Amino acid sequence: MNILEVSHLEKVYGTGKNPVHALKGVSFTVRQGEFIAVVGTSGSGKSTLMNLIGGLDTPTKGSIRIREHDIAALTRKELTIFRRRNIGFVFQNYSLMPVLNVYDNVALPVTFDRGKHVDHEFIQELIQELGLWEKRKAYPSELSGGQQQRVALARALANKPALLLADEPTGNLDSRTTAEVMGLLRMSKRKFHQTILMVTHNELIAQSCDRIISIEDGQIRKEGGDGLD
Ligand SMILES: Nc1ncnc2c1ncn2[C@@H]1O[C@H](COP(=O)(O)OP(=O)(O)OP(=O)(O)O)[C@@H](O)[C@H]1O
Ligand SMILES: [Mg+2]
Repeated sequence: MNILEVSHLEKVYGTGKNPVHALKGVSFTVRQGEFIAVVGTSGSGKSTLMNLIGGLDTPTKGSIRIREHDIAALTRKELTIFRRRNIGFVFQNYSLMPVLNVYDNVALPVTFDRGKHVDHEFIQELIQELGLWEKRKAYPSELSGGQQQRVALARALANKPALLLADEPTGNLDSRTTAEVMGLLRMSKRKFHQTILMVTHNELIAQSCDRIISIEDGQIRKEGGDGLD
């Protein structure tokens, strides 16, 4: 089953004299359970692609279907709920809530979703798996960068999202923490059959994924694997 279908996606930033064509007709599909590395040079359009798939920004042209929902057809409110229930995000700049401790930051997306039961056992498990149990009552400002990144990852996984979007989740981490974060992603994928799209500049990590999507100047350069469905 295709969990994600990206068709002829285009993104132009700005309308004035100097528009930036960040994406120039990107199409690909992703099957449920795939772990995909998105690679490409700086400015090639990777974050733009992730933001569009996550519904954080709207395409200039083209469509994105997630679990057979055309996300452009959803109202703002529907999109918020859809995103919360189906998509997890990890950004490079953590975006943790400074006034909440580690535990509450991780539980936040679930707490927000009033229709959903908060699985405290799972949240505790995530925090333990990430080696943050001793820090569960600490605030983000009291954590190292790697620890903050792990909290952000745990938070993205708290909803058990079908699709996890990670924009350079290991970008600022040392090799040991990188290995831990990758281990957690693999564990999470195994346990919850997640589909993961991860931007990375790390060649070794990219090679360890199921497939590589390479973006160059707003277009897909080549796809590893068979790329067919
Ligand atoms: N909000 C914006 N307004 C105008 N231009 C933008 C905006 N966001 C990105 N761009 C431009 O779009 C292009 C693609 O940017 P994008 O952030 O997607 O690249 P990237 O592949 O994620 O790069 P990096 O590896 O450095 O994170 C770049 O030329 C960038 O300057
Ligand atoms: Mg980027």
